[in-house]
Amino acid sequence: MTQRDKVVLAYSGGLDTSVAIKWIAENYNLDVIALTIDVGNQRDLAMIRDKALKTGAIKAIVLDAKDLFVNYFIFPALQADAMYEGEYPLATALSRPLIAKLLVDMAHEEGANSVAHGCTGKGNDQVRLDVGVAALGPDLKIIAPVREWKMSRKEEIEYADKHGIPVPTTIASPYSTDENLWGRSIECGVLEDPWAEPPEEVYKWTKAPKDAPATPAYVEIEFEKGIPVALDGERLDGFSLISRLTELTGAHGVGRIDHIENRLVGIKSREVYECPAAVALLKAHKALEDMTLSKDQSRFKQVVVQQYADLIYNGLWFSAFHQDLAAYVQSTQRYVTGSVRLRLFKGECTVVGRKSPSSLYSHALATYDKADQFDHSSSVGFIHLWGLPLKTQAQAQLLAHPGEQINILPPKVKLAEE
Ligand code: ARG
Repeated sequence: MTQRDKVVLAYSGGLDTSVAIKWIAENYNLDVIALTIDVGNQRDLAMIRDKALKTGAIKAIVLDAKDLFVNYFIFPALQADAMYEGEYPLATALSRPLIAKLLVDMAHEEGANSVAHGCTGKGNDQVRLDVGVAALGPDLKIIAPVREWKMSRKEEIEYADKHGIPVPTTIASPYSTDENLWGRSIECGVLEDPWAEPPEEVYKWTKAPKDAPATPAYVEIEFEKGIPVALDGERLDGFSLISRLTELTGAHGVGRIDHIENRLVGIKSREVYECPAAVALLKAHKALEDMTLSKDQSRFKQVVVQQYADLIYNGLWFSAFHQDLAAYVQSTQRYVTGSVRLRLFKGECTVVGRKSPSSLYSHALATYDKADQFDHSSSVGFIHLWGLPLKTQAQAQLLAHPGEQINILPPKVKLAEE
């Protein structure tokens, strides 16, 4: 008997990937190895593993990738201040290159010649996974059953029934969600109407700001070289720190995001996120950078950050361009060490204090009281030279040709005649 070829399928335990186990075996005549990756999306992993085997996988692998996710993806993205379009902390987007990498590793380990995932044909995730696999495992074929099979939800459920695949009860939910340690995303159902306020039921990690405690809470986050290392003085590993901060900030309703997002595949979509820890850490990190980076470093970082967030969103994690930008970001983080104090109150997360041993903030220079050491008289010469080109140009052009100017100068004011 000849052995069948093998495929490693990224398996979540949901309806799509469960149906995919059977569908791939039937349509591609392959042995399916189910790979479930734990990136901090609290699920019953033993149950998922069991279900994969019952559904027809020849092997079910569960990998704990939480530390890899934190150290190779979340923290570097935090150091980069990565937010897509200024709003989305990229939780899902960050997990995809890791999943692609582990699919490739497992395929090579198991002697499989293809990998598979359950992405649809209209999202960003298919791009991120396909491109990641293409970069790291160019020898592997990619199968995306959901993109191919053209079954409606109803047909999928019928297919599942026919093949004895248990349909999860959560299927009644109109929402499509994805979650990991860095955040949760919610799409579909009533959310597809951008005018409709997200109903309370879509949120799982955050309290409604109106129901949050009536008194504010404070939390102090300590960073070393741009990486959070302690909460309220207690040193924690990355996973514990983010988990604890999620609870703390979520209880105060922090981290709800409602975003009309530009997808890579050319459509706008309405995305609701809850990312309480990400929102708090990104804010705190930026506050510490404000203390420790020069104006030039920080201005240029904003340019880098936009490119950085786009390349994460667009699935180009394993690019040389990313390495180039990461080198700049890493260099900027050398003195981003210190503490930030946040106030959590009714959905707001506000920076109320910051300190750093390498701070560029000098009280002696900033103060208006007696201790002032700033040399006021030196401003006169500075202002003279600063304004010199402006004065020269205004005389030669602005004042010389008033009729030829773009409209930045209000008309001359005349006093009304008595
Ligand atoms: N729009 C977000 C992104 O592209 C979230 C995607 C959520 N993915 C999912 N399979 N539900 O990163």
